[in-house]
Amino acid sequence: MKKLLLLVAFALVGTLSAGENAEKTLVLPAPAKTGGLPLNEALANRHSSRDFAAGKEFTLQQLSDLLWAASGINREDGRMTAPTASNSQEIDLYVALPAGVYFYNRAGNTLDLLVAGDVRKATGGQPFVGQGTVEIILVADLDKLKGADAQRRDMAYIDSGYVSQNLYLFAASANLNSVVRAWVPREALAQTLGLNANQIITVVQTVGFPK
Ligand SMILES: Cc1cc2nc3c(=O)[nH]c(=O)nc-3n(C[C@H](O)[C@H](O)[C@H](O)COP(=O)(O)O)c2cc1C
Repeated sequence: MKKLLLLVAFALVGTLSAGENAEKTLVLPAPAKTGGLPLNEALANRHSSRDFAAGKEFTLQQLSDLLWAASGINREDGRMTAPTASNSQEIDLYVALPAGVYFYNRAGNTLDLLVAGDVRKATGGQPFVGQGTVEIILVADLDKLKGADAQRRDMAYIDSGYVSQNLYLFAASANLNSVVRAWVPREALAQTLGLNANQIITVVQTVGFPK
């Protein structure tokens, strides 16, 4: 029992100190908009993988490239690499890193701290989750969509699919591993992220380095 309490205390201190050190804003370098594999080769390589190397971290450049591919701005009028119904742009990317969960501010090209501490493991129950990975939580803000409730949910899930496939193709091109996950503890995670009732977690995508 004593051992268990010590372990819990140790884990908490670890989490808090990671949180205390979390930068409030990570300014991302401009994303690379050229290079990568030819599209057909990326398509040929696209696959789900649940094998990730532990203890490796993404550079800010890699994060910038990854998030831009997912749903960054690719035109002067603010439209994105991923389409959304009526250009609603309702899919926000919450990026779980070792130091905390950051909001991808695509217009400013920054990551803005939302929750300090490492919550990556809390984004899923599968053993590979949060082990040397970045967990990208797709949060649909239903208030940004028009129509009846069911229709807005349909659009949110369809729009999430494009973001997910962009991440898969980027991973295939950049020699990273990735898997999209619908098996997510949505209620607990929504609480951790402080979401309101109209912000729904659609999927989480794990991205990391191959073993
Ligand atoms: C909507 C959706 C939900 C998924 N949820 C999970 C999941 O919770 N956990 C997991 O390990 N894989 C998940 N996957 C990955 C699928 O298992 C995988 O795409 C499928 O086996 C086909 O393999 P491939 O992606 O390599 O073609 C999901 C895929 C999709 C499209």
